[in-house]
Amino acid sequence: MEFANMAEFLGNKTILITGATGFIAKILVEKILRVQPNVRKLYLLVRAKDPESAKIRLQDEVIGKELFRVLREKMGQNFESFISEKITPVAGDTSYENLGLIDDNLKTEMFKDVDIVINVAATTKFEERYDVALGVNTMGPSNVVNFAKKCTNIKLLIHVSTAYVCGENGGLIPESPYSMGEALNGLPGLDIETEKKLAKQLLSNLKARELPEKGIRQIMKNFGRQRAKLFGWPNTYVFTKAMGEMLVGQCRGDLPVIIMRPTIVCSTYKEPFSGWVEGCRTIDSVAVNYGKGHLSIFLADRNSVFDLIPADMFVNSIIVAMKAHVNQPSMTIYQVGCSYRNPVNFSELHDFHYNYFNQHPWNNNEGNPVNVKKGLVLSNILIFQLILFLWIFLVGKVLNLANMMGSRSLQQVLINIDKKLNIAVKLVELYRPYLFFKGIFVDSNTEKLRVTARENGLDEDMFNFDPMSINWKDFFINVHIPAIVKYLF
Ligand SMILES: NC(=O)c1ccc[n+]([C@@H]2O[C@H](COP(=O)([O-])OP(=O)(O)OC[C@H]3O[C@@H](n4cnc5c(N)ncnc54)[C@H](OP(=O)(O)O)[C@@H]3O)[C@@H](O)[C@H]2O)c1
Repeated sequence: MEFANMAEFLGNKTILITGATGFIAKILVEKILRVQPNVRKLYLLVRAKDPESAKIRLQDEVIGKELFRVLREKMGQNFESFISEKITPVAGDTSYENLGLIDDNLKTEMFKDVDIVINVAATTKFEERYDVALGVNTMGPSNVVNFAKKCTNIKLLIHVSTAYVCGENGGLIPESPYSMGEALNGLPGLDIETEKKLAKQLLSNLKARELPEKGIRQIMKNFGRQRAKLFGWPNTYVFTKAMGEMLVGQCRGDLPVIIMRPTIVCSTYKEPFSGWVEGCRTIDSVAVNYGKGHLSIFLADRNSVFDLIPADMFVNSIIVAMKAHVNQPSMTIYQVGCSYRNPVNFSELHDFHYNYFNQHPWNNNEGNPVNVKKGLVLSNILIFQLILFLWIFLVGKVLNLANMMGSRSLQQVLINIDKKLNIAVKLVELYRPYLFFKGIFVDSNTEKLRVTARENGLDEDMFNFDPMSINWKDFFINVHIPAIVKYLF
């Protein structure tokens, strides 16, 4: 197979992309439009009540972003007309059959024209309401597969999952599919229909009891976590994404399918420019709290490997895989990360962050530089929790004293300490499975794709997705942390 002219492959293609307002999908949209202005059309599914609102969201949350600066410059005066010619915003919701499309004419047009479907939509909150996560992360992929099967010209469906569907498994994690009903802990009885029914029943019981919306939300979140843990997954997000993969495998028939499993997607490495990032997620919230001086003790195994991939490299892997798989009636899984070939561990990450913030301290709201300390790294969760709870207890006691004495400045200091401790408790709870993660993501399929593409003329400058090409120290100090400071502080 020829990979020499990748951009040509995209020419004249009609592609439906879901999750278009999200971090990864908009980088994909920008790349396709920039490298192949002759793409026929991109249908971008946006959650909105009508086409007009979808158009506004697209303008505000996608096209209007700094990410599109390079394309805007390249197109000059033609930018707006180019965008309206190439992009059709589609109001919809992947939780519904036919993706919730209400416009029958548009649906018919899409069934006739779409060649490739890329499902990027998901709720990425680790602790989402169970009903919501089941809707988008589990049923969403199956609705997208069924939609793709109705497209008469369909050549490929790409489903974006996550490498962490493996839960807390350690060792070498292969690029293998889940079979329907396979629980991580081997517990029998995982049945997606039952899960949907249980979530639905609980929700209608809560509504019948006329609980406030906030209470319902919390109970539905707790229920998701409980169901995830029952079957061996650490949180609702990865559990519902794993079930989504199961449904893709089951529903696809002979539809050509790729499941892309990126690890932690971080800021752009090179394209359209280095260091573009959006939304504070996973490890970035630890970096933000550390740089702001809210976090000075860490719970982590110093040798734990963090698996990251810059967003533009992940997008390149999608496009190259797309070329390799059109019209191939198989299902292939690609894990896209760095842990197997170019790992970076907690200790190194800690050093990068310390060095960066030590040299470039963040200025707080009062304009004062926040001096970070290296802090304390504990690798024993019990000791960590004991220390945290002791501190919280002590701070509470001294705060009572300060209240009695009416000392406002001391009260303020203690309230701030209490706030920091509670942030630490919350972050630990959420990220514990990843701070002690012992898995290494095998990327044999991805490597095979890289080698085949390279040997067959891939322009590696334009479509690089090789983690071996990354110098992590340079990337963190000069690209990723400055990007976090610029966009997320
Ligand atoms: N970012 C990472 O580090 C990472 C790592 C591994 C895997 N992934 C996977 O990569 C994909 C994209 O992640 P991301 O970081 O770009 O996420 P993101 O920024 O949170 O974007 C998610 C997108 O999905 C849309 N969406 C949510 N529910 C929907 C629904 N019911 N119908 C239609 N669209 C819906 C969101 O729309 P709204 O704007 O309307 O909410 C948003 O456009 C996800 O599948 C995620 O699981 C991400």
